[in-house]
Amino acid sequence: MAKLTFHGHATCSIEADDGSKLVIDPYFSDNPATKLAVEDVEADFILVTHGHADHVADLIPLAEKTNATVISTFEIAAYMESKGFPASPQHIGGGVQFPFGYVKLTNSPHGGIVQLPGGEAFTSVSAGVLINFASGQRFYHAGDTGLTMDMQLLKGKVDVAMLPIGDRFTMGPEDAVRAVEFIEPEVVIPMHYDTWPLIVQDVGAFKAAVGDRARVEIMMPGDVWEF
Ligand code: NI
Ligand code: MN
Repeated sequence: MAKLTFHGHATCSIEADDGSKLVIDPYFSDNPATKLAVEDVEADFILVTHGHADHVADLIPLAEKTNATVISTFEIAAYMESKGFPASPQHIGGGVQFPFGYVKLTNSPHGGIVQLPGGEAFTSVSAGVLINFASGQRFYHAGDTGLTMDMQLLKGKVDVAMLPIGDRFTMGPEDAVRAVEFIEPEVVIPMHYDTWPLIVQDVGAFKAAVGDRARVEIMMPGDVWEF
C-alpha cells in the first residue's frame, strides 16, 4: 500500500511501500489550503511538474531541508543541479527507474515559467507524472493540464489519477470528466480547485458527473488515503 497525503491545491506526499517519501509539487508556505510548513515535511524525492510558483514555491527550501533528489523536466532538474542539489533530469515521454518505482513524464499542455529568487526567470515545459510503483500501483498526477488527446494513451495504465478540475488555468470539471473517459482510472482524486476564488468549483457536482465511470475520492488538505 502506498500512503498518499493531500496538502491542498496540487501538492501531495506519497510514502511508497519501500519507505521512500515522495513530495509532488511542493507548495506550502503561501498555499492557502494548508497550514503545513516546509519544516513539517519529509522527502527523499521531490517531483516537480512545472515551474509555476503554486508548484515550486517551496522546492528550494524543501531540497535544502531534506537533500531529497529532485525529479523533474531537464530544465528544472539542471537548474537544481547547478545550485548543488541532487536532481534527476528526464523529459516528456521518457521514464526513469527509481527504488520506489518507474517515473514517466507525460504531456501536459500548460505554461512553465520558472521565476527565480532575484527576479530572473526561465521557461520550461509543463509535465504530468506517471508513477508505476514497484508494488504494482499505477498513479498519475496530471499536473496543470488542459484536456488532451494524449490522455487516451494512458487508458489501461492508471489506477489512481489526480486530475485538476479548477478551470481557468487547467481543465474544468466538464473536461476532467472527459479525461476520466479517456484514462479510465479506478479512482480519481480532484485537485487544483478552491485554492483561490478564481478556481472555486463544486467538487460534489464533479463527483456526480463522473458517476460510475470511476470512484471519486474527495480529499481535504491533510487527508490521508492508502492505495
Ligand atoms: Ni501552472
Ligand atoms: Mn497551478
